[in-house]
Amino acid sequence: EETIVAHEVSGVVARSKNAPVSLETILVPDPGPGEALVKVQACGVCHTDLHYREGGINDDFPFLLGHEAAGIVEAVGPGVTDVEPGDYVILNWRAVCGNCRACRKGKPWYCFATHNAQQRMTLEDGTVLSPALGIGAFAEKTLVAAGQCTKVDPAAAPAVAGLLGCGVMAGLGAVLNTGAVTRGDSVAVIGCGGVGNAAIAGAKLAGATTIIGVDIDERKLNWAKQLGATHTVRSGDVDVVEAIRELTGGFGADVVVEAVGRPETYRQAFYARDLAGTVVLVGVPTPEMKLELPLLDVFGRGGALKSSWYGDCLPSRDFPMLISLYLQGRLDLDAFVSERIGLGDIEEAFAKMHRGEVLRSVVEL
Ligand code: APR
Ligand code: ZN
Ligand code: ZN
Repeated sequence: EETIVAHEVSGVVARSKNAPVSLETILVPDPGPGEALVKVQACGVCHTDLHYREGGINDDFPFLLGHEAAGIVEAVGPGVTDVEPGDYVILNWRAVCGNCRACRKGKPWYCFATHNAQQRMTLEDGTVLSPALGIGAFAEKTLVAAGQCTKVDPAAAPAVAGLLGCGVMAGLGAVLNTGAVTRGDSVAVIGCGGVGNAAIAGAKLAGATTIIGVDIDERKLNWAKQLGATHTVRSGDVDVVEAIRELTGGFGADVVVEAVGRPETYRQAFYARDLAGTVVLVGVPTPEMKLELPLLDVFGRGGALKSSWYGDCLPSRDFPMLISLYLQGRLDLDAFVSERIGLGDIEEAFAKMHRGEVLRSVVEL
């Protein structure tokens, strides 16, 4: 099958393990069957982009980074009916198949046959690029499966809408979908980065009455208060489990969200929940991490131990709903945009992320 290269644009490429990213000319094909060409308007910088460039995800260099994006559909391929040119969309990295065992069981967020574009984007010399999470949106244009595009209200600015494409959706969904937090609940969130603070915003939205933010970093706790934490706990100063129990009448929280991804913070979440409470693990551990718990404590404490993948979201349901809530002033998404940058500023944004200075740096195009 012949590929007609139609678009020569700039994109941020990680060429080899740990090499600084570079701004390169990339070639983006016109959309084929089931595909959409998207003019990217904004894309947030996420830890996963850094993990790709560090070689921590896989070795399929060179990568076209960026996966937390909003933009305008420029063209669609044959057979695409859900979106059309001119649509304002948020991109998602789990476009479900609707037909696998998970999808048929009504749990499509576990879909194991998710869609991406079939055609490949390349460097000028024809080297095939691996788009981060099947998106690759640190680029003026990108090619995705049409199912990765979810139409939303254009009244929400791209820098804000794009947030829902990854980290902020993960945190909101950990609370709203996985944890099923409801009015009157107590919620504790361990780790108040972009993901954890989104969980706090979700807990507020859901009507939780006690919302406890836990972090080692005072700056993160200030954001937590801004987004709806009723209490904050500075880990290191106090015993986190004791502090959460004290703030919840001695019981522990109904839902504890672990948004760090480490055994020691998971252990805190495990013991800081109410006997019938739920632990939601949304932080991503590394392969070598091990968790050791007395089995008797697992037996002796009821409730549920859950993990949340991409906030167990259904983009077609959750993205438009959350954008509506934002436009109504009921969900503060603006607070997550710490700075607006250009495509040439990604390395600097990685450094700021590493130093904990930002919730999200967002590239605007
Ligand atoms: N106790 C409490 N908070 C901690 C601890 C600890 N022991 N160690 C680190 N933290 C805090 C950091 O200070 C930071 O605020 O956890 C937060 C982690 O946030 P970020 O590094 O900004 O990461 P974020 O984008 O929020 O993602 C969190 O979810 O999606 C995954 O891969 C992602 O594992 C990561 C997690
Ligand atoms: Zn991400
Ligand atoms: Zn499926």
